Amino acid sequence: MSETHENAPLKHLALIMDGNGRWAKARGLPRTKGHEKGADTIRDITVYCANHPQIESVTYYAFSTENWKRPKLEVEFLMKLLDRYLQSELETYMHHNVRFMAIGNIEVFSKALQKRIDETQQKTQHNTALTQILALNYGGRAEILYAVNRLIANGKQEISEEALSKALQTPYSDIDLLIRTSGEERISNFLLWQISYAELFFTPTTWPDFTAKELDEIITQYKTRQRRFGGI
Ligand code: FPP
Repeated sequence: MSETHENAPLKHLALIMDGNGRWAKARGLPRTKGHEKGADTIRDITVYCANHPQIESVTYYAFSTENWKRPKLEVEFLMKLLDRYLQSELETYMHHNVRFMAIGNIEVFSKALQKRIDETQQKTQHNTALTQILALNYGGRAEILYAVNRLIANGKQEISEEALSKALQTPYSDIDLLIRTSGEERISNFLLWQISYAELFFTPTTWPDFTAKELDEIITQYKTRQRRFGGI
Protein backbone atom coordinates (compact mmCIF):
# COMPACT_ATOMS: atom_id res chain seq x y z
CA MET A 1 0.00 0.00 0.00
CA SER A 2 1.49 3.28 -1.03
CA GLU A 3 0.05 6.75 -1.00
CA THR A 4 1.22 10.30 -1.31
CA HIS A 5 -0.04 12.95 1.04
CA GLU A 6 -2.20 14.37 -1.74
CA ASN A 7 -4.77 11.89 -0.48
CA ALA A 8 -3.42 11.20 3.02
CA PRO A 9 -4.65 13.84 5.40
CA LEU A 10 -2.38 15.93 7.58
CA LYS A 11 -4.21 15.84 10.87
CA HIS A 12 -1.57 16.13 13.55
CA LEU A 13 1.51 18.30 13.29
CA ALA A 14 4.31 18.29 15.90
CA LEU A 15 6.99 20.94 16.34
CA ILE A 16 10.30 20.86 18.19
CA MET A 17 11.05 24.55 18.70
CA ASP A 18 14.81 24.96 18.81
CA GLY A 19 17.23 27.84 18.36
CA ASN A 20 15.80 30.65 20.51
CA GLY A 21 19.19 31.12 22.20
CA ARG A 22 21.12 31.11 18.92
CA TRP A 23 18.68 33.61 17.39
CA ALA A 24 19.29 35.98 20.31
CA LYS A 25 23.07 35.46 20.38
CA ALA A 26 23.36 36.26 16.67
CA ARG A 27 21.73 39.63 17.42
CA GLY A 28 23.73 40.40 20.57
CA LEU A 29 20.56 40.02 22.67
CA PRO A 30 19.94 38.09 25.90
CA ARG A 31 18.55 34.57 25.44
CA THR A 32 15.26 35.71 26.99
CA LYS A 33 14.58 37.88 23.93
CA GLY A 34 14.82 34.75 21.79
CA HIS A 35 12.20 33.03 23.95
CA GLU A 36 9.91 36.08 23.74
CA LYS A 37 10.17 36.14 19.95
CA GLY A 38 9.66 32.35 20.00
CA ALA A 39 6.34 32.82 21.79
CA ASP A 40 5.23 35.15 18.95
CA THR A 41 6.11 32.41 16.45
CA ILE A 42 3.87 29.94 18.33
CA ARG A 43 0.97 32.36 17.87
CA ASP A 44 1.60 32.80 14.12
CA ILE A 45 1.90 29.06 13.52
CA THR A 46 -1.22 28.30 15.58
CA VAL A 47 -3.28 30.81 13.59
CA TYR A 48 -2.00 29.24 10.34
CA CYS A 49 -2.95 25.75 11.62
CA ALA A 50 -6.41 26.91 12.76
CA ASN A 51 -7.09 28.12 9.21
CA HIS A 52 -5.62 25.04 7.51
CA PRO A 53 -8.32 22.78 6.06
CA GLN A 54 -6.76 19.51 7.29
CA ILE A 55 -4.79 20.16 10.47
CA GLU A 56 -6.80 19.19 13.57
CA SER A 57 -4.09 19.42 16.20
CA VAL A 58 -0.63 20.89 16.64
CA THR A 59 1.69 19.85 19.47
CA TYR A 60 4.63 22.06 20.51
CA TYR A 61 7.58 20.97 22.66
CA ALA A 62 7.57 23.98 24.99
CA PHE A 63 9.44 22.63 28.04
CA SER A 64 11.11 19.25 28.32
CA THR A 65 11.95 17.31 31.47
CA GLU A 66 15.59 18.11 30.59
CA ASN A 67 15.03 21.89 30.50
CA TRP A 68 15.25 22.09 34.32
CA LYS A 69 19.04 21.82 33.85
CA ARG A 70 19.09 25.38 32.46
CA PRO A 71 20.17 28.28 34.70
CA LYS A 72 17.57 29.02 37.38
CA LEU A 73 16.91 32.52 36.06
CA GLU A 74 16.20 31.22 32.55
CA VAL A 75 13.79 28.57 33.91
CA GLU A 76 12.01 31.24 35.97
CA PHE A 77 11.78 33.46 32.92
CA LEU A 78 10.28 30.64 30.84
CA MET A 79 7.63 29.97 33.52
CA LYS A 80 6.70 33.67 33.67
CA LEU A 81 6.62 33.86 29.88
CA LEU A 82 4.29 30.86 29.72
CA ASP A 83 1.95 32.52 32.20
CA ARG A 84 2.00 35.81 30.24
CA TYR A 85 1.58 33.92 26.96
CA LEU A 86 -1.51 32.02 28.16
CA GLN A 87 -3.02 35.21 29.55
CA SER A 88 -2.56 37.13 26.31
CA GLU A 89 -3.42 34.18 24.05
CA LEU A 90 -6.93 33.61 25.38
CA GLU A 91 -8.21 36.22 22.95
CA THR A 92 -6.42 34.52 20.04
CA TYR A 93 -7.79 31.10 21.08
CA MET A 94 -11.36 32.41 21.24
CA HIS A 95 -11.07 34.46 18.05
CA HIS A 96 -9.66 31.56 16.03
CA ASN A 97 -11.76 28.85 17.70
CA VAL A 98 -8.70 27.06 19.16
CA ARG A 99 -8.83 24.62 22.05
CA PHE A 100 -5.82 24.70 24.35
CA MET A 101 -4.45 21.61 26.09
CA ALA A 102 -1.34 20.85 28.10
CA ILE A 103 0.47 17.51 28.31
CA GLY A 104 3.32 16.59 30.65
CA ASN A 105 3.67 16.68 34.41
CA ILE A 106 2.56 20.18 35.36
CA GLU A 107 2.09 19.32 39.05
CA VAL A 108 5.57 20.63 39.80
CA PHE A 109 4.70 24.11 38.46
CA SER A 110 3.59 26.88 40.81
CA LYS A 111 -0.05 26.76 41.91
CA ALA A 112 -0.70 30.04 40.07
CA LEU A 113 0.66 28.67 36.78
CA GLN A 114 -1.29 25.41 37.18
CA LYS A 115 -4.42 27.49 37.74
CA ARG A 116 -3.73 29.52 34.58
CA ILE A 117 -3.25 26.29 32.57
CA ASP A 118 -6.46 24.73 33.98
CA GLU A 119 -8.50 27.87 33.38
CA THR A 120 -7.25 28.22 29.80
CA GLN A 121 -8.12 24.57 29.14
CA GLN A 122 -11.60 25.05 30.59
CA LYS A 123 -12.38 28.31 28.81
CA THR A 124 -11.35 26.94 25.41
CA GLN A 125 -12.69 23.39 25.77
CA HIS A 126 -15.57 23.87 23.31
CA ASN A 127 -13.48 25.41 20.52
CA THR A 128 -13.34 23.19 17.46
CA ALA A 129 -11.13 24.58 14.64
CA LEU A 130 -7.87 23.27 16.14
CA THR A 131 -6.42 21.78 19.31
CA GLN A 132 -3.17 23.43 20.31
CA ILE A 133 -1.21 21.20 22.67
CA LEU A 134 1.74 22.48 24.68
CA ALA A 135 4.09 19.80 26.00
CA LEU A 136 5.18 21.14 29.39
CA ASN A 137 7.64 19.33 31.64
CA TYR A 138 7.15 16.56 29.10
CA GLY A 139 9.21 13.48 28.24
CA GLY A 140 8.19 10.77 25.76
CA ARG A 141 9.50 7.84 27.81
CA ALA A 142 7.83 9.14 30.97
CA GLU A 143 4.53 9.45 29.09
CA ILE A 144 4.73 5.82 27.89
CA LEU A 145 5.74 4.50 31.34
CA TYR A 146 2.97 6.44 33.03
CA ALA A 147 0.41 4.98 30.60
CA VAL A 148 1.71 1.40 31.03
CA ASN A 149 1.70 1.66 34.83
CA ARG A 150 -1.83 3.06 34.78
CA LEU A 151 -3.03 0.14 32.64
CA ILE A 152 -1.33 -2.36 35.00
CA ALA A 153 -2.87 -0.64 38.03
CA ASN A 154 -6.26 -1.02 36.34
CA GLY A 155 -5.70 -4.77 36.17
CA LYS A 156 -4.58 -5.18 32.53
CA GLN A 157 -2.57 -8.39 32.00
CA GLU A 158 -1.70 -7.79 28.37
CA ILE A 159 -1.46 -4.37 26.75
CA SER A 160 -2.48 -3.84 23.12
CA GLU A 161 -1.26 -1.00 20.88
CA GLU A 162 -4.74 0.43 20.88
CA ALA A 163 -5.02 0.34 24.69
CA LEU A 164 -1.65 2.01 25.10
CA SER A 165 -2.44 4.70 22.50
CA LYS A 166 -5.61 5.53 24.38
CA ALA A 167 -3.88 5.61 27.76
CA LEU A 168 -1.33 8.22 26.62
CA GLN A 169 -1.80 11.83 27.67
CA THR A 170 -1.60 13.06 24.08
CA PRO A 171 -5.21 13.03 22.91
CA TYR A 172 -4.72 12.53 19.17
CA SER A 173 -2.10 9.88 19.06
CA ASP A 174 -0.41 9.56 15.68
CA ILE A 175 1.75 12.36 14.36
CA ASP A 176 1.74 12.83 10.57
CA LEU A 177 4.49 15.41 10.32
CA LEU A 178 7.23 16.38 12.79
CA ILE A 179 9.36 19.46 12.20
CA ARG A 180 12.45 20.49 14.18
CA THR A 181 13.95 23.91 13.67
CA SER A 182 17.50 25.17 13.97
CA GLY A 183 19.45 22.41 12.25
CA GLU A 184 19.63 19.73 14.95
CA GLU A 185 18.44 16.33 13.72
CA ARG A 186 17.29 14.66 16.93
CA ILE A 187 13.97 13.67 18.50
CA SER A 188 15.03 14.54 22.08
CA ASN A 189 12.46 12.31 23.81
CA PHE A 190 9.44 13.97 22.12
CA LEU A 191 6.27 11.94 21.41
CA LEU A 192 8.22 8.68 20.99
CA TRP A 193 5.18 6.43 20.61
CA GLN A 194 3.23 8.83 18.40
CA ILE A 195 5.90 9.48 15.75
CA SER A 196 6.18 5.82 14.61
CA TYR A 197 5.06 6.64 11.05
CA ALA A 198 5.59 10.40 11.01
CA GLU A 199 7.43 12.18 8.23
CA LEU A 200 10.37 14.10 9.71
CA PHE A 201 11.57 17.51 8.51
CA PHE A 202 14.59 19.40 9.81
CA THR A 203 15.04 23.04 8.88
CA PRO A 204 18.09 25.24 9.62
CA THR A 205 15.80 28.19 10.42
CA THR A 206 15.80 29.12 14.11
CA TRP A 207 12.40 28.97 15.84
CA PRO A 208 12.01 32.77 16.23
CA ASP A 209 12.57 33.14 12.47
CA PHE A 210 10.25 30.26 11.50
CA THR A 211 7.17 31.51 9.65
CA ALA A 212 3.79 30.27 8.47
CA LYS A 213 5.14 30.68 4.93
CA GLU A 214 7.98 28.21 5.59
CA LEU A 215 5.54 25.81 7.24
CA ASP A 216 3.32 26.06 4.17
CA GLU A 217 6.30 25.20 1.93
CA ILE A 218 7.19 22.18 4.12
CA ILE A 219 3.59 20.97 3.92
CA THR A 220 3.74 21.24 0.12
CA GLN A 221 6.86 19.00 0.16
CA TYR A 222 5.25 16.62 2.64
CA LYS A 223 2.36 16.11 0.28
CA THR A 224 4.68 14.80 -2.41
CA ARG A 225 6.44 12.27 -0.13
CA GLN A 226 5.46 8.61 -0.45
CA ARG A 227 4.18 7.07 2.73
CA ARG A 228 4.15 3.27 2.70
CA PHE A 229 3.49 2.30 6.34
CA GLY A 230 5.75 -0.77 5.92
CA GLY A 231 4.17 -1.87 2.62
CA ILE A 232 5.76 -1.61 -0.86
C1 FPP B 1 14.74 26.03 22.48
O1 FPP B 1 15.59 27.10 22.24
C2 FPP B 1 13.49 26.42 23.02
C3 FPP B 1 12.89 26.06 24.20
C4 FPP B 1 13.47 26.16 25.54
C5 FPP B 1 11.51 25.60 24.12
C6 FPP B 1 10.56 26.55 23.45
C7 FPP B 1 10.26 27.75 24.22
C8 FPP B 1 9.72 28.85 23.69
C9 FPP B 1 9.35 28.98 22.26
C10 FPP B 1 9.50 30.00 24.59
C11 FPP B 1 8.10 30.41 24.70
C12 FPP B 1 7.21 29.28 25.04
C13 FPP B 1 5.98 29.45 25.54
C14 FPP B 1 5.06 28.29 25.60
C15 FPP B 1 5.48 30.74 26.00
P1 FPP B 1 17.01 27.04 22.93
O2 FPP B 1 16.98 27.97 24.08
O3 FPP B 1 17.33 25.62 23.24
O4 FPP B 1 17.91 27.59 21.78
P2 FPP B 1 19.47 27.26 21.56
O5 FPP B 1 19.59 25.77 21.32
O6 FPP B 1 19.82 28.07 20.36
O7 FPP B 1 20.18 27.70 22.82
